[in-house]
Amino acid sequence: MSLKAHIAPLRWSVWRLATGARNITKTGQIGDGREAAAVAYVLENARAGDIDDVLATIDKFSYEKSLLINIGDEKGLLLDAAVRRADPALALELGTYCGYGALRIARAAPTAKVYSVELAEANAVNARRIWAHAGVADRVTCVVGTIGDGGRTLDALATEHGFDTGTLDFVFIDHDKKLYLADLQRILKRGWLHPGSIVVADNVKLPGAPTYRAYMRRQQGALWNTIEHKTHLEYQTLAPDLVLESEYLGPG
Ligand SMILES: C[S@@+](CC[C@H](N)C(=O)[O-])C[C@H]1O[C@@H](n2cnc3c(N)ncnc32)[C@H](O)[C@@H]1O
Repeated sequence: MSLKAHIAPLRWSVWRLATGARNITKTGQIGDGREAAAVAYVLENARAGDIDDVLATIDKFSYEKSLLINIGDEKGLLLDAAVRRADPALALELGTYCGYGALRIARAAPTAKVYSVELAEANAVNARRIWAHAGVADRVTCVVGTIGDGGRTLDALATEHGFDTGTLDFVFIDHDKKLYLADLQRILKRGWLHPGSIVVADNVKLPGAPTYRAYMRRQQGALWNTIEHKTHLEYQTLAPDLVLESEYLGPG
């Protein structure tokens, strides 16, 4: 039986996810300990130093134990392809959670430095343990903070991690859906992107980032060139979702 066949859309961990939506925006976790359980599961079951096995083990946990809000295996293929297209030396993710998305980026770009900004310290701790187990801790870094915290996190990326004009090749936006556009614009203001940089945004249909989608539509062929990928919400095949892949064309 395929892993996908194991997913029962109405299983308890999915309902718990719905009631945990409030927690997610405040604490970055569902509130029932599933993220810590996922780390323990990975450390116990995945081969150390084997990125493929760590990712597959996280997917297995999500299908068979508790649903995690990673980008997941189906949409992860879109993320992988966009990363390969950008061929980044420097990549940034917004929203780390358990470290799954950053690990996919690191696998698709084997020499890239990957930074992930996360508001919840507890998620940073979990993700670092997973990255260490996968053997990528030397080039995948979690920065605790937010892009909208008055410049503190953006300044830290610049002064401590070498973000500079035209150096940022790839961005994966997957944090607070209401902040997608504002945070992208804050990054744009720093001048870190260059023509050809790729920005991927998850969950544009569900839970939805309508302002971001409308902006990309308005800017089509001007500042950005966007492909809308029709796909499904993570770890199931019933609920549709959209992943946007946008190439930065520059201010022209
Ligand atoms: C959907 S999860 C990210 C999943 C991850 N990208 C992956 O694919 O494995 C969203 C994460 O964004 C974090 N988050 C929410 N608002 C944020 C913000 N303003 N800045 C940074 N992180 C934020 C949450 O704590 C949570 O860990």
